Amino acid sequence: MTATARTSTARSTGWFPVARAAEVGTTPVPVGAAGQAYVVVRLRPGGEVSAFPARCPHRLVPLAAGVVEGRLQCPYHGWRFDAAGRCVDVPSLGPGGSAPPRADLPVPWAVEERHGWIWLAPERTDVVAPPAPAAEPVPEPAPAPGPPLGPVFGNLDPSLEHAWHPVALSRELRPGGWLQVRLLGRTWSLSRGPDGLVADPPAWGVRERFGVLWLAPAQPRDVALELPEDGDRRFVGSWLPPARSAGPAGPLADTLLDVAHSPFLHPATSGAADEVEVPTHDVAPDPGGFTGVQEQWCDDPADPGVAAGQRSPRRRRRATYVYRAPFQLRLRLDSLDTGAARTILFLLQPEDADSTRIYTCLLLAAGPGEPLPGPEVVAAEMAAEERVLAEDLGLQAQLARPGLPLSMRDELHVRSDRLGVALRRALADFAAAG
Ligand code: FES
Ligand SMILES: [Fe+2]
Repeated sequence: MTATARTSTARSTGWFPVARAAEVGTTPVPVGAAGQAYVVVRLRPGGEVSAFPARCPHRLVPLAAGVVEGRLQCPYHGWRFDAAGRCVDVPSLGPGGSAPPRADLPVPWAVEERHGWIWLAPERTDVVAPPAPAAEPVPEPAPAPGPPLGPVFGNLDPSLEHAWHPVALSRELRPGGWLQVRLLGRTWSLSRGPDGLVADPPAWGVRERFGVLWLAPAQPRDVALELPEDGDRRFVGSWLPPARSAGPAGPLADTLLDVAHSPFLHPATSGAADEVEVPTHDVAPDPGGFTGVQEQWCDDPADPGVAAGQRSPRRRRRATYVYRAPFQLRLRLDSLDTGAARTILFLLQPEDADSTRIYTCLLLAAGPGEPLPGPEVVAAEMAAEERVLAEDLGLQAQLARPGLPLSMRDELHVRSDRLGVALRRALADFAAAG
């Protein structure tokens, strides 16, 4: 194949062949036209082809998942777009909610199916239809969507020097042993000698807390997260095996704080798939971070009582999110039906620009008068938590971002994003102080 129907990628007007018509069905296909990233898809089987920008305006997630009820649906929070790019559904706002105007996708001027190909005209063109190509068209490769325009908070932000960071579980460093850890793009050796923990090269400090080893490269400015459940004998639990995300910590913290994605990203593991509306919730600033409280519906399929047919998996719960900059999060879930409680502590280690290690501790308490959760309950809950985290990490891999956007204009925030907005403000403040 030598000849090409594509004249130049520098031009932005005219018709661009982007995909063979036969290869476009109801799964969005990433394509490129005039250097811009789009997806093309049929919103009905065998129907006309529609074209959209390649990512969602909400959190810049690739719109590559699929079509639901004749609309393009974003995989993260389920926003839906019609053929004209109008955002027709923001599930977290409930049936009465309407999408903000900026939620609409700027679709290309025209899309046509001709000569066995899908053609895009990104901008108005005087040529009313794509011409018959003299040779087999050669479409542009689909480009990666560009990075956010404004500043982002990445894993190598200079302000991160001035914080305590988790670098290993205590159990990973035996007495007399040593281990190497990555932090902020550098390697430290940690050893546990007769006089305690030692870091090489020297750091401002090394310490042990909650069964985790912490390192502060320079004088820390962060406020330590407290864990009231630590030492509370009503709680049992443990650390999950540390996991790793192939991306920066900021977007991962955003996902872990996000209250609207469970029905879409975790429909089988923790989301109540038909409870998509997010009620209003309170977010209050704290020294070094914030606390958010919200009541929500969820499913608890890991509950043995559910497996035995004694209870419905559907639960009403209060979720309390406590965040401390830069990357410490504590989520406490109190069941309003049973009085049981579950605390999940997430600590993120910014290893390199594109690598974050995740420490997750799960602590469980039974309701009043109930015996402590047994080992099999704890094991089942930990396995369920690992599955949920794996789904969150799958999303991070799709994001392919250098960090968390700090400019409010780069993304689009709705009522259910109050924790995410608070996170962006807290990290912007942290970066400014550094
Ligand atoms: S709905 Fe697309 S990122 Fe939230
Ligand atoms: Fe999640």
